Amino acid sequence: MIDDLFCDLDSKDQRREILADGALVLHGFARAQAPALLAAIGEVAAAAPFRRMRTPGSLRMSVAMSNCGPLGWLSDRQGYRYAPLDPDSGKPWPTMPGLFGQLAQMAATEAGFPGFAPDACLINRYEAGSKLSLHQDKDEADLGAPIVSVSLGLPAVFLFGGLKRNEPTTRVPLVHGDVVVWGGPARLRYHGVQALKDGRWPETGNCRLNLTFRKAGPPGDQ
Ligand code: SIN
Ligand code: FE2
Repeated sequence: MIDDLFCDLDSKDQRREILADGALVLHGFARAQAPALLAAIGEVAAAAPFRRMRTPGSLRMSVAMSNCGPLGWLSDRQGYRYAPLDPDSGKPWPTMPGLFGQLAQMAATEAGFPGFAPDACLINRYEAGSKLSLHQDKDEADLGAPIVSVSLGLPAVFLFGGLKRNEPTTRVPLVHGDVVVWGGPARLRYHGVQALKDGRWPETGNCRLNLTFRKAGPPGDQ
């Protein structure tokens, strides 16, 4: 009886929530690795500090970003793109920690996308009020690979929409350790993050951190 209860709680903790064909939330999937992920984020950020990039229209984004892996996502007056060098240092983005790639591949496999080999990890840092307006992830050369997104620290509300901007969105509460995967027919669905609520999380203070893993370069390239 008590065992059953624990089993139930356990499976509830690791609940999978289908958002659409090709999109799901793996609740709690990264929870056990969270301390190691946060330590590795600290190392990446020491080499490639978080910065608030400018949109092509020259507005400063409210989310601070860094990258690791062979390619990093950039936004500036020239537009959105992936590049191998950090424009702030002129050096390659820090190497993607082994744990990152393994976790992303395991989550993708769990979601039905085996063989995911990300070559870019965008690290987003949200503080109270930071948000990401509805957008598609479409700067990647390989749209055959999914996006794997790992939430750490303060909770947030993820918005998951359709293939057109004006389609209705689902509000998806995400907490520390949750992983969202979207690919296949859901790969180009609009998504965003509502303004972060003020709060404190033991390991991340007043922040939410998010890792998004992408296969940004052409298929086959690593
Ligand atoms: C993204 O859309 O790139 C990030 C999503 C998130 O922070 O949950
Ligand atoms: Fe995105």
